[in-house]
Amino acid sequence: MPTAGIDVGSLTAEVVILEQDQILSYVIRPTGANSRRAAEMAMEEALNKAELSSSDLSCVVATGYGRISIDFVDKRVTEITCHGRGAYYWNPAVRTVIDIGGQDSKVIRLANHGRVVDFAMNDKCSAGTGRFLEVMAQALEVEIEQLATLSNRALNAVSISSMCTVFAESEVVSLIAQGLPREDIARGLHRSIADRTAGLVCRIGLEEQVMMTGGVAHNSAVVAALADKLKTKIIIPSEPQIAGALGAALLAQEGS
Ligand SMILES: Nc1ncnc2c1ncn2[C@@H]1O[C@H](COP(=O)(O)OP(=O)(O)OP(=O)(O)O)[C@@H](O)[C@H]1O
Ligand SMILES: [Mg+2]
Repeated sequence: MPTAGIDVGSLTAEVVILEQDQILSYVIRPTGANSRRAAEMAMEEALNKAELSSSDLSCVVATGYGRISIDFVDKRVTEITCHGRGAYYWNPAVRTVIDIGGQDSKVIRLANHGRVVDFAMNDKCSAGTGRFLEVMAQALEVEIEQLATLSNRALNAVSISSMCTVFAESEVVSLIAQGLPREDIARGLHRSIADRTAGLVCRIGLEEQVMMTGGVAHNSAVVAALADKLKTKIIIPSEPQIAGALGAALLAQEGS
């Protein structure tokens, strides 16, 4: 019977429906102010896409910070376990998973069979996360999807001294006012995220192969800066944002 995994994050909610290790459907939608409602709508949409109803599901596992607010689930599992499981499904050779989402960044160490053996997380602060990049994109007057393109046109990288999102935003506004190229500021911001993430990686040690999950994996400038800093190749799955929901659906399938 099919199973579902649901990941309610700070910015996006995802649902993956799985049957015998095959993805039948998936949905990514904004979490918004009502995480419970977002979860319900994502589930409804994913079931419709798979032409199933909720009674067809044998088990539903939830993850993400909003997992506590959902009542139609059989089990709740941490994002660490779910991202690890999702990454392992895509590539069993992965030993280090870097998940950068809207408000959290995490580095997860996997052993054989996708078992989590260690992890490191940022403190409760948006520095170095997707939210940080969204605020900076706004200050630079580009869409979040265009931030990497802007950065790729840079001739230099402006060093950004503030790590805190609020202070870094004022710093960026002041750098723009001083006439520094927006491209160079964007590159500096991506470098600062890469430096911060590399610091997290160092806490548990780098083991190849490395995969990035979460929405920030869509930002090729962050990926390139991080690969450069860590001196390694970083694997990006085709839908990095669904890693948590996919891991949850796999755990549901295993009946755990
Ligand atoms: N197409 C894109 N291009 C660039 N960046 C993107 C793109 N799509 C998403 N992002 C980045 O991904 C972030 C959201 O990531 P994600 O959906 O993994 O967060 P989340 O799971 O809700 O957060 P958390 O796990 O921290 O609670 C956005 O803030 C943005 O920076
Ligand atoms: Mg997340």
